[in-house]
Amino acid sequence: MLESDKPIGIFDSGIGGLTVYKALKEYLPSESFIYLGDTARLPYGTKSERAVVRFSIDNTEFLLKFGIKALVVACNTSSSIAIKELREKFPGLPIIGVIEPSAKLAMEMSSSGRIGVIGTEATIRSGRYRELLERDGAEVFSQPCPLFVPLVEEGWIEHRVTQLVAEEYLAWMRGKIDTLILGCTHYPVIKRVIGEAVGKEVRLIESGFAVARELKRMLKEKSLLRGDGEGEDMFFVTDFLSKFSRVAEIFLGRKIKIEERKFSMC
Ligand code: DGL
Repeated sequence: MLESDKPIGIFDSGIGGLTVYKALKEYLPSESFIYLGDTARLPYGTKSERAVVRFSIDNTEFLLKFGIKALVVACNTSSSIAIKELREKFPGLPIIGVIEPSAKLAMEMSSSGRIGVIGTEATIRSGRYRELLERDGAEVFSQPCPLFVPLVEEGWIEHRVTQLVAEEYLAWMRGKIDTLILGCTHYPVIKRVIGEAVGKEVRLIESGFAVARELKRMLKEKSLLRGDGEGEDMFFVTDFLSKFSRVAEIFLGRKIKIEERKFSMC
């Protein structure tokens, strides 16, 4: 098999990373993707750094069994905490996380340099977005929004409770920022509600598009871009519940076949 025909691995703590997969597939339809959602150990956003690093290594080892040519870490929490360890542990594997591409795109889109960042507790606590944005001269306003994840998984997309929660988290940013990074896999699903809470004029940055652009650039540079044809994708979770099919549809807008694959738990 040609190196360029090999699949791209992508993992998330659960199925929220399908928002990133969706953007990758739209941007790179010829590529094949192997998706892993670590639903057995979800959520990562409330876990310790040590746990998130260990889970991220397990996920990468699983995906490597498929002979992947590159890895996308769709989970913001893993990307902000574990990317350095992954690059050290798997030096031959090109790895892209969501943080750097999203921060870069936000810098390009913002005219005032006043940028908001929202994410899980772990992502915001890591300070990774802040570090990158401030290095480039931005003024950063950040806010953890942990309740958004369960609300999205409940399917409460335009629900009044979601609107109230968004208002509570985000009203203070109104008028302060012109760009907001949606630093969590789940947030693009409720971007309309987020946009209303923060002010409609604020540009919302979704990781999916930012990563897709970066992945294409990197594959091209390494002569790993697959030319023609339609890629074939596979979806795995580490623990399957029938509700996942419904939740996957919320993220993707279509049905997919999800397989369960257990690997050694700690
Ligand atoms: N995938 C996680 C993220 O993007 C959100 C869900 C979780 O906490 O595991 O940060």
